[in-house]
Amino acid sequence: MLIMAIAFSISAMAQEIEGDAANGKTLYNTNCASCHKLDKKMIGPALGNVTERRSAEWLVKWIINNQELRESGDEDALAIFEEYNGSVMPAFPGLSEQDVMDILAYTIEGSKPKEAEGDKTAGAPVAVAEDEGDNTMLLIILAGILLFLVILLARVKNTLKQIKGEPTSTLTEDANILTRTALKNPKILTVLTIVIAVVFLQQLYAGLMSVNVDQGYQPEQPIKFSHKLHAGENQINCSYCHYGARKSKHSNIPSAGVCMNCHMQIQEGPKYGTEEIAKIYEAVGWDPEAYAYIEDYEEKPVKWVRIHKLPDLAYFNHAQHVTAGGLQCQTCHGPIQEMEEVYQYSSLTMGWCINCHRETEVQVESNAYYKEMHEKLKEKYGEDAEITVEMIGGLECGKCHY
Ligand code: HEC
Ligand code: HEC
Ligand code: HEC
Ligand code: HEC
Ligand code: HEC
Ligand code: HEC
Repeated sequence: MLIMAIAFSISAMAQEIEGDAANGKTLYNTNCASCHKLDKKMIGPALGNVTERRSAEWLVKWIINNQELRESGDEDALAIFEEYNGSVMPAFPGLSEQDVMDILAYTIEGSKPKEAEGDKTAGAPVAVAEDEGDNTMLLIILAGILLFLVILLARVKNTLKQIKGEPTSTLTEDANILTRTALKNPKILTVLTIVIAVVFLQQLYAGLMSVNVDQGYQPEQPIKFSHKLHAGENQINCSYCHYGARKSKHSNIPSAGVCMNCHMQIQEGPKYGTEEIAKIYEAVGWDPEAYAYIEDYEEKPVKWVRIHKLPDLAYFNHAQHVTAGGLQCQTCHGPIQEMEEVYQYSSLTMGWCINCHRETEVQVESNAYYKEMHEKLKEKYGEDAEITVEMIGGLECGKCHY
């Protein structure tokens, strides 16, 4: 009875929230996740069960403009403001009432125990890394098995001879006879030479092709910064730190100032305590004890080691792929949100770029950039044709080479 009563009262609270949790998740990640977590206090309170302690009406007012609510003299609003030492949560005049409902629906949905792992951030990673099968090991193993079988047969023959009382030979004698006959037989000799030559050439080719290919490159970084913790567990949007990727050629690495947005408050981590976060303070000159910046401090930028790097002869533009092309970061960079330390997921070779351009359809429909071109392409390839990047010129040398 008690459980039912609790369940009923919770569902009664939840019922007044009608919203689209999926849309809410996106809004939450872009607007709120930098300060709020669902299950833990961060810069602001945990929002997981906020709908159980506040009414929907109050929440709408607070989230859209908390200052207005405070100025109206609302006691709850004043109390929570005081509890957080007067830190100011920004107003969100751009959010509609329905948007807020969606966010609240997500805070309920997102706090339910997870059934299936893996949907941590939007967009499932698509594997594009090519798997270059290595046959050399297989060949060696096969040769080994063959040799073993031949020797085994010889031993069996020997045992049979022994039973019949005929003269027998030792293992080394067998092996000697075997090599001598093999080397005298021109056919076996030819086959052997060809096999060795093929293995050698294959190794040489693989070696040459991997010059400058740094797939899997995972250098140690000056601060043990974890994407798994930030982008995965805390669901901080990639663009919060790499804001350059959507608008420009390069995706920036955030400065230590960006880290300070959160780490002014978060002075301790779950794994390394204060040790690693102290390095951010060292970079910007922040004294956590005094809770203030040190005066006249010469900043020491963090020297991150660059992982992805195309040679100078190639041109690659992030905004073109992320904003115009609508690709997820994970398509090229792999499951970054699960990486404790970042490594290069894709090969970044010319073949890798070209393959994707051959296979990927351009999203022409919703793309103003292609409106005019689309009409022409339709005439050329037919009404229902799939327009790949190749068709818009994505294989032309000049597009990727200066
Ligand atoms: C810059 C940091 C920041 C951002 C961004 C932010 N908040 Fe807050 N939020 C706070 C702080 C700090 C408080 C504590 C009250 C105060 O100090 O004003 C708070 C309080 C709240 C409360 C009241 C919780 C309670 O227990 O009563 C709600 C609800 C809330 N925020 C929702 C949101 C939502 C939804 C968003 C995104 C649309 C958001 N916040 C974005 C910092 C932030
Ligand atoms: C809190 C800030 C932050 C967030 C959020 C974040 N990153 Fe990063 N990212 C960094 C920092 C700092 C580095 C440099 C250190 C390193 O390599 O770990 C970096 C490095 C990278 C690199 C390697 C850059 C190189 O040197 O080639 C890639 C790729 C990357 N991030 C992608 C992503 C993606 C994709 C997401 C979202 C899933 C994301 N990041 C979210 C801060 C962030
Ligand atoms: C939007 C907020 C936010 C930003 C920006 C941010 N962090 Fe964090 N960081 C967190 C949170 C949340 C934690 C985990 C705290 C916890 O769980 O106790 C954390 C933890 C850490 C830890 C501790 C890890 C451990 O396991 O001990 C390090 C180191 C760290 N961050 C480095 C950085 C660096 C470097 C940057 C800037 C490139 C950065 N953070 C930017 C929110 C942020
Ligand atoms: C089409 C594949 C592709 C997509 C999608 C993509 N990247 Fe990259 N990324 C690359 C390549 C290639 C490089 C190396 C660029 C260079 O050396 O000029 C790179 C480099 C980077 C770097 C290192 C700094 C730089 O610009 O050289 C960061 C950080 C990064 N990417 C983050 C992101 C984030 C965040 C997203 C999603 C918003 C993203 N990338 C989407 C292919 C991609
Ligand atoms: C995961 C798939 C994918 C990979 C990998 C990829 N691209 Fe692209 N690329 C696209 C898509 C999709 C577009 C079309 C974007 C648009 O709508 O403008 C595009 C467009 C381009 C364009 C503009 C073409 C034109 O005609 O306007 C250039 C240049 C380009 N890519 C270079 C590269 C380079 C260089 C690499 C490798 C380092 C690369 N791309 C890897 C998917 C990819
Ligand atoms: C979609 C982008 C793209 C297109 C189109 C493209 N390339 Fe490349 N190319 C690259 C990238 C990226 C590299 C660097 C890859 C690496 O270092 O492995 C490269 C490397 C090269 C190299 C240096 C050799 C090497 O392996 O380092 C030559 C030569 C070259 N390309 C010629 C061409 C010619 C000729 C064409 C036109 C038929 C062409 N490329 C079209 C992206 C492209």
